[in-house]
Amino acid sequence: MRAFRLRAAEKAFAVYWGSMATDKTFYLETFGCQMNAHDSEKVIGTLEQQGYRQVESEEEAGLILYNTCSIRDKAEQKVFNRLNDYKKLHKQGKRFGVLGCVAQQEGEKIFERAPYVSLVSGSASYRKLPEMLTRLEAGEGRITGLDDRQTDETFETEFTARQNQYRGYITIIEGCDKFCSYCVVPYTRGKERSRTSTSVLHEARRIADLGYTEIQLLGQNVNSYRDPEGKMSFAELLAAVGEVAGIRRVRFTTSHPRDFTRDIVDAIDRVPTLCDHVHLPVQSGSARILKAMAREYSPEWYLERVAWIKASRRQISISTDIIVGFPGETEDDFIQTMDLLAEVEYDCVFAFKYSARPNTPALVMIDSIPEAETAKRLQALLDRQREIQRVNYSKQIGEIIEVMVEGTNPARGQIAGRSSQNKPVNFTSPHPIAPAPGSYLRVMITGAYPNSLVGESV
Ligand code: SAH
Ligand code: SF4
Ligand code: F3S
Repeated sequence: MRAFRLRAAEKAFAVYWGSMATDKTFYLETFGCQMNAHDSEKVIGTLEQQGYRQVESEEEAGLILYNTCSIRDKAEQKVFNRLNDYKKLHKQGKRFGVLGCVAQQEGEKIFERAPYVSLVSGSASYRKLPEMLTRLEAGEGRITGLDDRQTDETFETEFTARQNQYRGYITIIEGCDKFCSYCVVPYTRGKERSRTSTSVLHEARRIADLGYTEIQLLGQNVNSYRDPEGKMSFAELLAAVGEVAGIRRVRFTTSHPRDFTRDIVDAIDRVPTLCDHVHLPVQSGSARILKAMAREYSPEWYLERVAWIKASRRQISISTDIIVGFPGETEDDFIQTMDLLAEVEYDCVFAFKYSARPNTPALVMIDSIPEAETAKRLQALLDRQREIQRVNYSKQIGEIIEVMVEGTNPARGQIAGRSSQNKPVNFTSPHPIAPAPGSYLRVMITGAYPNSLVGESV
């Protein structure tokens, strides 16, 4: 906790110095996945290091930044809507920057669609942010940081401005080389490149010194990690992070089934701080569709990995991502996905309607499924999954589990937290003073909903 206070003092000084130098204020809004959220923490730290001060609204800011997501069409549209909403601010001398996946995907076309934008940079160019900021301050417009899938560099900084009070993120691998036929990520985040295990462990120790007890390792495919020093496999690195003094919980996301090895389950079995949760996106239960998606595994391959996870000594929770209505998905393909849901009995499913994306091979596949049919399948899947979760979650009534406190819900007189399995737990406590976020309590589970558990601290 002392380290948190120190950091606040450093921040206050940077704020003072920044506002003395010039009015270098910025507003940053983040869209998309956890990798983007963590990139934003690093971008904020880099800006603060350059004398900038973060403000809470577009109106107060001199520089407005959007860290964007392009995974589905809706996500991309959100960004352009936001830019349109605020374009009047340009006339007040404010400058705009577009960062992240839409920036990389659309590149200089953004200047045509939104001429008041001065900076466009994909995540693979963030190392050059200080230089780009200097050019921006000198009045330059149309500054770009765009990657051509060549860079081997990762974005590492000592100045990460961690926004999450209780969870410290570490990106261990950037980019993606998998090229699933529907996905923009290989084009927006550059090629797969891992950080050295030495640097990851150094950051893990720093995070522990700051007072954090939970670490989440990040990567588009976190388990495709390849140590450039050749010292550690992903499972070994996971275990080593779990053994850092002061760390009580380690999570990792997202695991790709193709690279999911048995030693990951062995590590979870062996190292108590590794959480009881694996997010293993399957996308479809049909071999034919998986092939068209270029996922490079079959349903059998996937289920074998699920069997390893289920054979663990620990109660490892499994979650997944599913795409409904991929071009050519027949009713029979969809039924196979429904059957897979029933077989795995996931604790959580993120299901999406297929969205045709620029540059991707699936864009030219004949997509003849009517929107209403896709919507119907998605709803059927969500309904089925809700029932599965209702059963799964209610099995935990009567258990005593460890919960990390995330906040309070005063209106309901409840404390909100999360279990090792990543399940939300809302509970009451006999103590009059609410426990601090980041503290751990033992909770007796007394009730269950399809998406959360209810209990009392014991
Ligand atoms: N690297 C991870 C997924 C990252 S993207 C993996 O391969 O598992 C997060 C999720 O978004 C994907 O798992 C997929 O379910 C969904 N997604 C990606 N592209 C999509 C598209 N074009 N349409 C709909 N959903 C998509
Ligand atoms: Fe996209 Fe496939 Fe890479 Fe995941 S593995 S980020 S779905 S291309
Ligand atoms: Fe979106 Fe880019 Fe993440 S497309 S999901 S922000 S990798």
